[in-house]
Amino acid sequence: MCGIVGYIGKKQAVPILLDGLKRLEYRGYDSAGISVIANGKMVTTKATGKVVELENKIGSKRIEANIGIAHTRWATHGKPCDKNSHPHGDCSGDIALVHNGIIENYLELKNQLQQKGHKFSSETDSEVVAHLIEEFSKKNDFREAVLESLKLIKGTYGLAILNKKYPSQMIVARLGSPLILGVGKDEVIVASDASAIVQYTDKVVYLEDGEVAIINTEGYEVITSKNKQIEKKVSTLDWNMEQAQKNGFAHFMLKETFEQPETIKNAMRGRLSKEDGMAKLGGLRDVEDKLKKINRIIIVSCGTSYNAGLIGEYMIEEYAGIPVEVEYASEFRYRKPLLDSKTAVIAISQSGETADTLAAIREAKNKGALTLGIINTVSSTIARETDAGVYNHAGPEIGVASTKAFTSQLTILALLAVFLGRQRDMSLVTGQRIISELEKIPNQIEKILEKHKEIKKIAKKYVGFSDFLYMGRKYNFPIALEGALKIKEISYVHAEGYATGEMKHGPIALIDASFPSLFIVPKDSVYDKNVSGMQEIKARSGKILAIATKGDTEISKHADDVIYIPKTLEMLTPLLSVIPLQLLAYYVGVYRGFDVDKPRNLAKSVTVE
Ligand code: F6R
Repeated sequence: MCGIVGYIGKKQAVPILLDGLKRLEYRGYDSAGISVIANGKMVTTKATGKVVELENKIGSKRIEANIGIAHTRWATHGKPCDKNSHPHGDCSGDIALVHNGIIENYLELKNQLQQKGHKFSSETDSEVVAHLIEEFSKKNDFREAVLESLKLIKGTYGLAILNKKYPSQMIVARLGSPLILGVGKDEVIVASDASAIVQYTDKVVYLEDGEVAIINTEGYEVITSKNKQIEKKVSTLDWNMEQAQKNGFAHFMLKETFEQPETIKNAMRGRLSKEDGMAKLGGLRDVEDKLKKINRIIIVSCGTSYNAGLIGEYMIEEYAGIPVEVEYASEFRYRKPLLDSKTAVIAISQSGETADTLAAIREAKNKGALTLGIINTVSSTIARETDAGVYNHAGPEIGVASTKAFTSQLTILALLAVFLGRQRDMSLVTGQRIISELEKIPNQIEKILEKHKEIKKIAKKYVGFSDFLYMGRKYNFPIALEGALKIKEISYVHAEGYATGEMKHGPIALIDASFPSLFIVPKDSVYDKNVSGMQEIKARSGKILAIATKGDTEISKHADDVIYIPKTLEMLTPLLSVIPLQLLAYYVGVYRGFDVDKPRNLAKSVTVE
């Protein structure tokens, strides 16, 4: 995700800002930029690529400035290039700002501003804020102009803003995108992430949503968006650099697991049209007509992304009525797939660089199929080579085991099922129902995450077992595969994922008191069938851990331990049932003493065959 740094004080701003950007590098990004006010002039430098490119561009130019803002960008609107990099400015060149988040109504605001004569120089949503401030500055001072602009913005933001006419003032604002003020002696360092602050000061002020800070060399004032002053507590950071990057979590995997309520919101943001029960998928606009005509879908992917694809198959077949096949990309690329222009081949990939998935997409393209991507990494190779696609917006995933990318893939697949369904015969009411249940998912995940201590205790109970059978049916069969994959890769425990109905065709032979089973058994259309499977295991003295729906009072009769999840639509249960399995794998791995962020033999992005 994007990173923000700002400096105001007595020291030279440029080296501090560049250093701050480098400390945010772990988040991943595609371009960087910096603006400082030097001798009354706004000096802006931008570069595509790493911070070192920006540093080289600035080179030995001595830019004397004590105030500045800087940004690393993870592209959302507009491809990575110098003009789309932050900071963005207004027409006059007085304003410069950096922005994290998404301005949902930017097109509407941009149109209004263009009618008033504003000239835009980037494709980003962020630039609109600079022009809005310019517009309001005609009749207001800097502070008022910012506050008036914020009133018009819909979406999320972490903003740091400079105005050449106010050379010793910086204004920052937060709504849904973190901002921290590091309070030093005669200086304030602003950052989206404590890792850019810890080396300068341990005194910090956390801005909350709806708060704005007016910062100058003497100090800072925090106000509400209605210009009411707020007393803020100064906290003490007791994190080192690495802990700061993990936001206080012991591992990136745990941090990313806990980020899921937010990343799912990001995957949905601006894409739900409740009134017409439709998903708005801007990345598919150019191929909308082709999608109306397709009569077959093939999903190609690997690992966790493959498991997401299997759930997509159930969703799309049930709600859009289009036949779907899901294939390992590594298999698809070497066989003779029968494709035509009425087939859409969808690649699902977090990295967008997985060699097999890329090769599969190239093969599909050669054969004349429409190619689409569900990709997290903006402008990655697969994102560039597919005809159209939908980005996850989950931010960089650093833990090798995929967690937040998986649930954002599921969110997009649900949106795609609505989109394709509504293009066909899905009723308005069904579309609306799915959307309103989807909107509840982030809160429901919060509820599951609150149980992390309980799940940790259960993990301790099961840590001694060296084999597991994970089982589920229908929408939760792929979750059995995903849960087994997670515990395998993180904890090096042998685990197999199976469809409950298949158990009696072989794996049941393995079961005895030393071989536990995990059943994903929500109250859904296959509940009774799953319970029969549990009884068969119990009859063979197998231990059972169940993931069940809250309020199911029967299930504890068949299981030794139960983790409850909230009730949702059957198609959306995987978004909830996978959370305890991620935590279980994590805690078992930690108890067994492994480095869960870097499991042995695995790479985050598999760019070789
Ligand atoms: C498992 C995991 C891998 C990836 C797979 C595909 O936790 O992370 O199985 O899902 O390597 O990677 P992407 O999604 O980048 O194509």
